[in-house]
Amino acid sequence: MFLQLLAFMIAIGGSVLGGPINTPGFPAARVLSQLPKETWLESIVVRRNGDILATSLFYSSNVFTVTRPSFHTDNKAKVLASVPEVNSLLGITELPASYGEEAFFFVGGNFTSLTTFTTTVGSFKGFKLTFDRYGKATVKKVSDLAPISSFPNGVTAIPQAPGSVLIADSFVGSIGRLDLSTGHYDPKAFAFQEMTVPEGAVLPIGVSAMRIKGSYLYFGNPSTQSIYKVKVDSKGYLVKKAQPSLVANISSVAPGLDDFIFDSHGNILLATNSPENAIVHVDVKTGKSKRIIGGPTDPLMPDSTCLAFGRGIFDTNTFYVSTGRNISDPTTSARIVAVDASLLNY
Ligand SMILES: *[C@@H]1O[C@H](CO)[C@@H](O)[C@H](O)[C@H]1NC(C)=O
Ligand SMILES: *[C@@H]1O[C@H](CO)[C@@H](O)[C@H](O)[C@H]1NC(C)=O
Ligand SMILES: *[C@@H]1O[C@H](CO)[C@@H](O)[C@H](O)[C@H]1NC(C)=O
Repeated sequence: MFLQLLAFMIAIGGSVLGGPINTPGFPAARVLSQLPKETWLESIVVRRNGDILATSLFYSSNVFTVTRPSFHTDNKAKVLASVPEVNSLLGITELPASYGEEAFFFVGGNFTSLTTFTTTVGSFKGFKLTFDRYGKATVKKVSDLAPISSFPNGVTAIPQAPGSVLIADSFVGSIGRLDLSTGHYDPKAFAFQEMTVPEGAVLPIGVSAMRIKGSYLYFGNPSTQSIYKVKVDSKGYLVKKAQPSLVANISSVAPGLDDFIFDSHGNILLATNSPENAIVHVDVKTGKSKRIIGGPTDPLMPDSTCLAFGRGIFDTNTFYVSTGRNISDPTTSARIVAVDASLLNY
């Protein structure tokens, strides 16, 4: 008994002191929610009340929700809203509060093939998801984007400009700016060679995700496995003559690169997609990158697509990862994985 207790205390101490990942009895990661067959999640955000929202890329155009994720060990993802005008949903972001309203923006459109990623050019739209004060969700289309829009992917709000959002288009290879009140969309608000797909790239997917932090817009380009930053003003406009500079090249760590967030130290945590199936930590000062959980042979998070930190009372150190599924195994389905970052050694 005493020995057991001692082992238990060493186990706890080990993790507090930055000990091994996955301390027995205190696994850093767990499957929070296993979705049913034919599901594939693309983007995830956490509401101010702590509930999770996740968009579905394939098989349906649903927004799923998991309520109070830190209160239960097993959580069912429920359909919060369906968007029948399109067959796929992509990036979702919370809009900065205006008049106390809780609202999110997301993009969706039509994919015609899951394997070759073919899309219907011009079918993409921007939607606003609003919660009223009774918690009822309403989805409204706010824009048809641009006729050239062909793979709007990641989206991000602009902290000081609540009326606009930025949208990365992975096939056009640029970042557009959408005015939410008029629906006007400039698809090439940021158009740099660093956002495009270089000739001969194995993965023909250009800029896919971005975030504003401080006076920079950070963006990731899966085709070059690189993250860049470029100077923007407080309203999210490019600073005149500013050029992108490389933050990190993760090619030696992971073949893929999808959505990313900043941790409490201001460093990047990014989801890698399949076949890496991991979360990678990027030190934004040195560019040094390393995998912190998951991996090519780890069944934990097949096709990790996006992640978001908890906002509840008990889960501010936990990030939630959305996944597609094991691409080689059609019997698998999407899941949401909860990872306690304080138990990871990085
Ligand atoms: C997109 O898909 C939806 C749902 O299947 C369909 O109703 C709509 O007509 C399609 N739009 C285009 C432009 O193909
Ligand atoms: C990233 O690193 C790889 C391997 O060293 C190199 O081939 C590639 O050109 C680099 N990409 C960028 C954008 O620097
Ligand atoms: C994915 O599925 C294939 C086929 O069943 C299997 O061999 C492989 O181990 C799975 N990969 C992971 C990461 O679970």
